[in-house]
Amino acid sequence: MPETHLVTGGAGFVGSHLVLALLARGDRVVVLDDLSTGHAAAVPEGAVLIAGRIGDPDALARAFAHGPFASVLHFAALSLVGDSMREPYRYLAENAKNGLALIEAAVAHGVTRFVLSSTAALFGAPTTIPIPEDEPIDPGSPYGESKAWLERALIWAERIHGLRSACLRYFNAAGADPGGRLGEDHRPETHLIPLVLDAAAGRRPPLTVFGDDYPTPDGTCIRDYIHVADLAEAHLLALEALTTRSVRYNLGNGTGYSVREVIATAERVTGRRVPHTVGPRRAGDPPVLVASSRRIREELGWAPRYPELETIIAHAWAWRQAHPDGYRQPR
Ligand code: UFG
Repeated sequence: MPETHLVTGGAGFVGSHLVLALLARGDRVVVLDDLSTGHAAAVPEGAVLIAGRIGDPDALARAFAHGPFASVLHFAALSLVGDSMREPYRYLAENAKNGLALIEAAVAHGVTRFVLSSTAALFGAPTTIPIPEDEPIDPGSPYGESKAWLERALIWAERIHGLRSACLRYFNAAGADPGGRLGEDHRPETHLIPLVLDAAAGRRPPLTVFGDDYPTPDGTCIRDYIHVADLAEAHLLALEALTTRSVRYNLGNGTGYSVREVIATAERVTGRRVPHTVGPRRAGDPPVLVASSRRIREELGWAPRYPELETIIAHAWAWRQAHPDGYRQPR
């Protein structure tokens, strides 16, 4: 039986890939997105787009009028670690306020399954690497803190209202739809892989490496890059799990790459040099974030199809080559 889902932030990078995966399995999707960072052109054909804010009661009511929903998947949020160090109260307030309004609306409309797009930024100074789910939550930034609050709020939503939830802590989402239909287009772009690729293509000034004095083998930060299509697949599995219980999963490949290793891999994939310089550290960046995804592999049988950094970068490069102006071009 096809189900209908509400996806907030479905015009964004990870959200749009999830919409594509839901439509591919025959489900119906309603997207609520204020298009402040997402793109209408990123919403796959077949989904209903409501352009509006979660904080606007009219927009929320218009979205829920398309229900009943089998689940609500919440991607819409302020999501930049660096920005959150400059505007901590805006991050804390907006992410918390919107998340709570959505949880409340989901409960009021009888929704029983809620998926939260959570983050590796819950772990500011992890002591166990790769990071398991039972690592103490101690965010290194207000962004991470805002997601920690929502994870806690969902515990109360289940205790009081029986709303089951999946909190999926993404490590570094990257890549692009292997079919070339969707990709990554943030404005301004702050994420490493798209910046590296644009520097390789000569479309941007040289990349600045944010610090090379971290306690890592080459001094640059280590991250766990995960293909956006593998993330989408994990959401589908989590939705199934939610028919019986709530879940919390860390989602990554379990392999870390330094900024310098990402640059070297991109140079191999593109066959071009990536001009770069070294600058100061960016506030809020933990030195190493690598996920242990053992729990979701064991419990749900999740297995990433594109775990290699080469493949992740190759898919991102293919989309960027085909869409040098991102979603501003006709697809
Ligand atoms: N980096 C640079 N230069 C740049 C951009 C990034 O050196 O111009 C470095 C960063 O310092 C970091 C790494 O590249 O070490 C990755 O940075 P991103 O900005 O691409 O990603 P973040 O790790 O900061 O954050 C991303 C998401 C967050 C999420 C986090 C989890 O944006 O939402 O991954 O690891 F919480």
